Amino acid sequence: MTCDNLLIEDLEGVRWITLNRPDKLNALNRDTLVELDAAVAAAASDDAVHAVVVTGAGEKAFVAGADISELNTLGPVEAKEFALRGQATFNRIERLTKPVVAAVNGFALGGGCELSMSCHIRVASANAIFGQPEVKLGLIPGYAGTQRLPRLVGKGRALEILLTGRNVGAEEAERIGLVNAVCQPEELTATVNGILGKILANGPLAVAHCIEAVNHGLDMPFDDGCLLEATLFGVGAASDQMAEGTTAFLEKRKAVFRS
Ligand code: COA
Repeated sequence: MTCDNLLIEDLEGVRWITLNRPDKLNALNRDTLVELDAAVAAAASDDAVHAVVVTGAGEKAFVAGADISELNTLGPVEAKEFALRGQATFNRIERLTKPVVAAVNGFALGGGCELSMSCHIRVASANAIFGQPEVKLGLIPGYAGTQRLPRLVGKGRALEILLTGRNVGAEEAERIGLVNAVCQPEELTATVNGILGKILANGPLAVAHCIEAVNHGLDMPFDDGCLLEATLFGVGAASDQMAEGTTAFLEKRKAVFRS
């Protein structure tokens, strides 16, 4: 796949997708979003890819938002389509049944914060800055920020962040549950790899089912979510992976899920 705005690299079964417009702080323009969508679809269908990391090029930014120079020219119909397009790509990321980690290496504002929230796990360098500053531009978030932020940090905190448009530093982001871990910038790759190493040692089907159960279950009544969980639990019981995991425990050895 040829990309002008992304760098794509496979490292030991992990696909690193790097948004690569550092001179524009990796702002998401239309072409970048199209490439990102295709890159996520390709990662989904490639059996050699076991996990995905999304990050930004350069030392300053993860993604500084949607490209404001494009926003500036949108009419109402185009603006709605613009939002739906970004939402579709971010939904594709969230619904990937392989773990997706955002390695947030700097500004994650607007669409950047929304992109990070569509990933399953967020690891931030200590210099990362999150926020949804759209109100300062006379806009609201269009890539599901109003929906994912309250689900992560609660309604009250989300509304305060959305309505003020203020920056949220990495330390606060960790405290309020917006990120999973914070580390020094030079430790970001190792921290991400450490988390992924633990995940990828587990049963891949079980990992995929956890993602599905959480993603779909959160949008269902509790009883329906529990039924979904029980159904996936049943499907897992038919797999070699459950046989291997439980047998390995009983034989006091480490389970081997991937050869
Ligand atoms: N869209 C388009 N271009 C952007 C951008 C965005 N969201 N964010 C940054 N850029 C561009 C700047 O225009 C500048 O380009 P130029 O050198 O051609 O003028 C370049 O990236 C560097 O940004 P700059 O503002 O000079 O860096 P800074 O360190 O002074 O400030 C930010 C960094 C992130 C505080 C500032 O760029 C900013 O506020 N960006 C917009 C954030 C935002 O509102 N995002 C939500 C959009 S919906």
